Amino acid sequence: MNNLFLRTARFYDLDMSDLATHDLAFYRRYTAQSGGPVLELACGTGRVTIPLAKAGHRVHGVDLSQSMLAILDEKVRRLAPEIRERISFTEGDMAEFALRMRFSTVLIPFRAFQALTSFEQQRGCLQAVKRHLEPGGRFILNVFLPHPRIMQTWESPDDRVDWVAHDPKTGETITRRSRRTQIDPGRQIIYPELTFEVTAQDGSTRTFTDQLALRYFYPYQIQTLLITHGFKIEEEWGDYRRSPLGEGPEQVFVCTPNA
Ligand SMILES: C[S@@+](CC[C@H](N)C(=O)[O-])C[C@H]1O[C@@H](n2cnc3c(N)ncnc32)[C@H](O)[C@@H]1O
Repeated sequence: MNNLFLRTARFYDLDMSDLATHDLAFYRRYTAQSGGPVLELACGTGRVTIPLAKAGHRVHGVDLSQSMLAILDEKVRRLAPEIRERISFTEGDMAEFALRMRFSTVLIPFRAFQALTSFEQQRGCLQAVKRHLEPGGRFILNVFLPHPRIMQTWESPDDRVDWVAHDPKTGETITRRSRRTQIDPGRQIIYPELTFEVTAQDGSTRTFTDQLALRYFYPYQIQTLLITHGFKIEEEWGDYRRSPLGEGPEQVFVCTPNA
């Protein structure tokens, strides 16, 4: 459990999907307004952490996966010293963490909150976020917007190609496929299976598979969670281009803690 993306972390940064390429400008804008240190929960390989540190912010990342953090560590070591020294990270669970500092911005990008499938985990996370925010600080949370008939439409025996990428480091071609193995509508959990097919230059192929369990949330459920845990929702969007909530594939909430 502690090593999510055990087999597939090394392919993570090849993801060039819309979401993975559109959210950075959004996070840059809010962190520039707040100025102070940033906490990124579920920071993974540093896709967001590193650009924010390059923009001048002190950033602390927390992630449960040793495999993802090992890649972040490798990337951080290659950075210029003045950027490197602005980044720190710890292996830990965003559902229960205690750090010795407060932050002016806390982010949970790329739908990572959905890995918290139980209410106890969600509650633990939101309580900890609140404890770690400076007064007047901001919390930005992203989950996907479920299809209105997700219960009927999600499960499928077929796999589909999400993206194909060329890995410049190895010369390999990586094809990511996903299979929608199972949905538990009562607990609102989907079980996607991600397979990375790696084709070497000599044409040989290997596959690596990881399973995920993701809780899906309707907007009113996130709104209720945030409000009952002491946050005021200042903005809510349907994607990172600021479409109204409900009119895009994402749910993005920008909140401040109540006094
Ligand atoms: C989709 S990736 C997002 C990584 C990064 N934030 C980004 O935007 O590219 C999800 C990350 O959530 C992490 N994760 C899942 N459950 C977690 C938990 N309970 N505590 C901390 N990290 C967790 C995974 O290890 C993975 O790195």
